[in-house]
Amino acid sequence: MSDFKNKTVIITGAAMGLGLAVAEELASKGANLTLVDYNEEALTKAKNELASKYPDAKYLTVTADVSNEEAVKNYVNATVSEFGKIDGFYNNAGIEGRQAPMTEYDINMFKKVVDINLMGVYYGMRYVIPEMQKNKTGRIVNVASVGGIRGVLNQSAYVATKHAVAGMSKNAALEYGRDGILTNAIAPGAIKTPMVAEAFKQVNPENPQAAEDEYASRNPTKRLGKPSEVAKLVTFLLSEDNGYVSGQVIAIDGGESNIYGNS
Ligand SMILES: NC(=O)c1ccc[n+]([C@@H]2O[C@H](COP(=O)([O-])OP(=O)(O)OC[C@H]3O[C@@H](n4cnc5c(N)ncnc54)[C@H](O)[C@@H]3O)[C@@H](O)[C@H]2O)c1
Repeated sequence: MSDFKNKTVIITGAAMGLGLAVAEELASKGANLTLVDYNEEALTKAKNELASKYPDAKYLTVTADVSNEEAVKNYVNATVSEFGKIDGFYNNAGIEGRQAPMTEYDINMFKKVVDINLMGVYYGMRYVIPEMQKNKTGRIVNVASVGGIRGVLNQSAYVATKHAVAGMSKNAALEYGRDGILTNAIAPGAIKTPMVAEAFKQVNPENPQAAEDEYASRNPTKRLGKPSEVAKLVTFLLSEDNGYVSGQVIAIDGGESNIYGNS
């Protein structure tokens, strides 16, 4: 795969989970990375570990809440000041919210999920795309979910926002393809990250491992996904090896979203 030397990529939600896995993969390929997260302590720790393992990559960290429009403008401007341009954008930060049936869902939590998962992704594209247009090239990967192509019990806010991410990705592909900007969304199934560990705690607080095992048993591969597996897909989509894939919502779920009825 083409390397990322002199390529600048912004990653949101970079302190842990899928964001950190993508940061690691791109750091190993020598990228200039802007790592964005609102958890400053975890972000600093992640950056220090990456820098000691991959000293050839360059790093800028920006503490920002992606639901804050000014903070998004700031991470975009800081990236251009530091590295001169933006080649790739992994628009990943998101939260699950709390699990509850739709009519019992806490309304403030619903709004928070919309602010982060929908508005945060939109602000990111709004301010990154003009920078990519200047160079007539760019690659954007937004993070939807299997919850962006299917319903998921008790997760109405998450599902609504992830469908929105899938839709915005298709629109960005239509509107900015002429500028050489390819935009896709990925739709991960259950990947072993801190977010998913928290979800299994909500399903079975006494025995989260039992909830995980039960979930994995329904997957055709009989296991959860690994963050490193998602990072390989994202790295391809962000690279110049991807010349013509745009406007797609790509499931990475071991085939689980194709199940209908018993399997
Ligand atoms: N792990 C999965 O199975 C899975 C499946 C489908 C989709 N996703 C999506 O992938 C993305 C990453 O998920 P993950 O599993 O790595 O989650 P995670 O909770 O393990 O990590 C998310 C990171 O994003 C940061 N973050 C959250 N809200 C933020 C905000 N408002 N501003 C800045 N940073 C913020 C957190 O601090 C954390 O470092 C999310 O959008 C999630 O919905 C994950």
